[in-house]
Amino acid sequence: LATPFVLHADDSHADAQLVAEDCQKRYLEIFKDVEMLVQQTIFFDELNEEPGRKQIHSRLRKLVPSIGRFFTPLPLADAFLLEDERRAISKRRLVSPSFNDVRMILNTAQILALTSIYKQNKGARLKLVTFDGDVTLYDDGKSLDENSSVVHRLIKLLSLGLYVGVVTAAGYPRQSGAEKYYERFKGLIDHLNSENCTLKTHQKENFFVMGAESNYLFRYDNEMKGLRYIDGDEWFLPQVRNWNPSKVNYIMDTLHKHLVYLRSNFNLEDSTTIIKKERSVGIIPNSGCRILREQLEEMVLSCSVKLNTILDSSQNFATSTEALCQTDEIKVCAFNGGSDVWVDIGDKALGVESLQKYICHDETSDVCPISKAESLHIGDQFASLGANDFKARLSACTVWIANPRETVAVLDDLIDF
Ligand code: IMP
Repeated sequence: LATPFVLHADDSHADAQLVAEDCQKRYLEIFKDVEMLVQQTIFFDELNEEPGRKQIHSRLRKLVPSIGRFFTPLPLADAFLLEDERRAISKRRLVSPSFNDVRMILNTAQILALTSIYKQNKGARLKLVTFDGDVTLYDDGKSLDENSSVVHRLIKLLSLGLYVGVVTAAGYPRQSGAEKYYERFKGLIDHLNSENCTLKTHQKENFFVMGAESNYLFRYDNEMKGLRYIDGDEWFLPQVRNWNPSKVNYIMDTLHKHLVYLRSNFNLEDSTTIIKKERSVGIIPNSGCRILREQLEEMVLSCSVKLNTILDSSQNFATSTEALCQTDEIKVCAFNGGSDVWVDIGDKALGVESLQKYICHDETSDVCPISKAESLHIGDQFASLGANDFKARLSACTVWIANPRETVAVLDDLIDF
């Protein structure tokens, strides 16, 4: 999008109002064009799914081969006008539309698509909203307190009959893990338990936590007055059930050794700790210390390269023919958490998809099945490398925020539109 945004730089003698109107018109045309390109891509992608059909690529897919799937149309022109009103983008004469402007416009277009206007035409409606934890619901390393403005919006979503999930990398297994998640979501859970809470029982129980990307599932239980651990047997996707445990262990051991090597390479032995859990391994700074941003990035890239080597040569440690089949392709996610680096078995694409499917099997649910177009993931980590929300794009519509205040603003749009 950057190329067409040429500024009217020399407007020194022009009528400022006229220049702004002209600039808005030109930007609007660009967004209309991109909206059509997206529409064409959706149409072609659907055609390509017909069995035996010769594959055709849309113009946008030819221009940007790495572009993902669009699960809804994106009303970019309407979204631009809205954001232009809020951010006065076209009134600027010296600073052209920025990455953040475009990110906001895409977010607003996605929210518009999921709310009333498009609901009327398409029949699809939003059923599940999932959130990343750190930076999205609360500041990095912090937790949800009862006064947090996010809590009220989450309650509102539940009252509207939506399913709400937190899909977080933070991984704590079994019922004992529920205590750890309680600490993080205390504000919300205390509210669900309070006498002031006006939600019906089934609405309260529509709150889920998916921990360690896609490994541990918890659901709010009104009788327990807290989170109940749900065994993997009840919700693991078939492909995950088929993962070979020795292969999982091999990946964990290899990446653990690799982090030990990286730590020594950067002389970080005294200032960091390496943590190895059942399904993740990470390096975190010791209290009062920090790892340089460049070192975090180097470590996450190095772990990704290591992972690719392992996953490509899976036959080297296959213990049975089963380990070689496609269904056994273990998903692993290496990411930079801002102050730490983690390698987790699983990813948020699986985490979100598992929730979509689990909710469908829920006897109390009347919203089956939940499609990707009816599911929204809100997160802060969408850069293509070393960011763990990125994978959620495979399973749901997404909104990319930069801090919890932006999450609140997005939720207000979602509730108001
Ligand atoms: P998220 O932003 O909610 O996905 O949480 C990411 C943060 O959770 C990481 O940056 C870590 O600080 C923390 N964390 C705690 N345990 C784990 C784990 O097992 N894997 C990955 N991250 C973890």
